[in-house]
Amino acid sequence: MKIQNVEFICSATAPEHYPKESLPEFVIIGKSNVGKSSLINTLCNRKKLAKTSSTPGKTRLVNFFKVHTGALAFYLVDLPGYGYAKVAKSEKGVFKRISEAYFKSRITSGEDTESPLRATLLLLDARRDAGESEKEIYSFVESLGTPSITVFTKSDKLSRGALIGRVNKLKKSLAINDYIAFSSKSGGGKAELLKAISERLLEQED
Ligand code: GTP
Ligand code: MG
Repeated sequence: MKIQNVEFICSATAPEHYPKESLPEFVIIGKSNVGKSSLINTLCNRKKLAKTSSTPGKTRLVNFFKVHTGALAFYLVDLPGYGYAKVAKSEKGVFKRISEAYFKSRITSGEDTESPLRATLLLLDARRDAGESEKEIYSFVESLGTPSITVFTKSDKLSRGALIGRVNKLKKSLAINDYIAFSSKSGGGKAELLKAISERLLEQED
C-alpha cells in the first residue's frame, strides 16, 4: 500500500464533532509518550502532521487524519495517552472521558450500523514491563471485538537481542501473539505495519 496524501481533518472532544464522512478507521492507543503521534508521522512520511513532544500529555483531543491510498481512503485516529504519572489527575480524567467517548461511539451494537473501526493499534514501549495500566488497556482492547495490532515502539533504543528478550517477557504477561517492532526514528516496521493496515482495509471491502 502506498500512501499518496494525508490531510488533517479535525480535533474533537466529542462524537458530534467527529468527521461527517464515514471511512474505515484505525485508532492508535497507548500510554502517554509511547510514540502514537510520531508513528502517524512516520507512517505518513510527514514530520509535523501530528504534534509530538518529549513531555507526556501532548495530544489532548481525538485527532482525525485522512489518508489517501489511491482507490481507498481511511482515517488514522490519534488519541490522548493514558496513565502517565506526571499528568495532573484532573487532566487524566478528561483524557479518559474523551477516549472512552470515542470507543463508545465506534462500538455499536445495532445491526444496521456497521462500525467504521477496522483495527486498534495498541502501542507498547518494549523497554517497559507491563504494569496494571497496560494489563487494563490490553484487556479493554481485546474486549472490543475488533482486530488489534500490537506495536512495540522505540525499537531503535534496543539491540536486536535485547528487543527479542523484552518482547518475549511482555508476550507472556499480556498473552500477545503477533506483534510489530516499530521505530519512528529509523522507520523500522513501517512496511510491515502498512501491510497489516492494508490487509484489514481490503478484508472488509468484499
Ligand atoms: P502523548 O500525545 O503525550 O500521549 O504522546 P505520544 O504517544 O503521542 O508520543 P509522541 O509521538 O509525542 O512521542 C513522545 C516522545 O518520544 C517524543 O520525544 C518522540 O520524539 C519520542 N519518540 C517517539 N517514537 C520514537 C521512536 O520510535 N524512537 C525514538 N528514539 N524516540 C521516539
Ligand atoms: Mg500524541
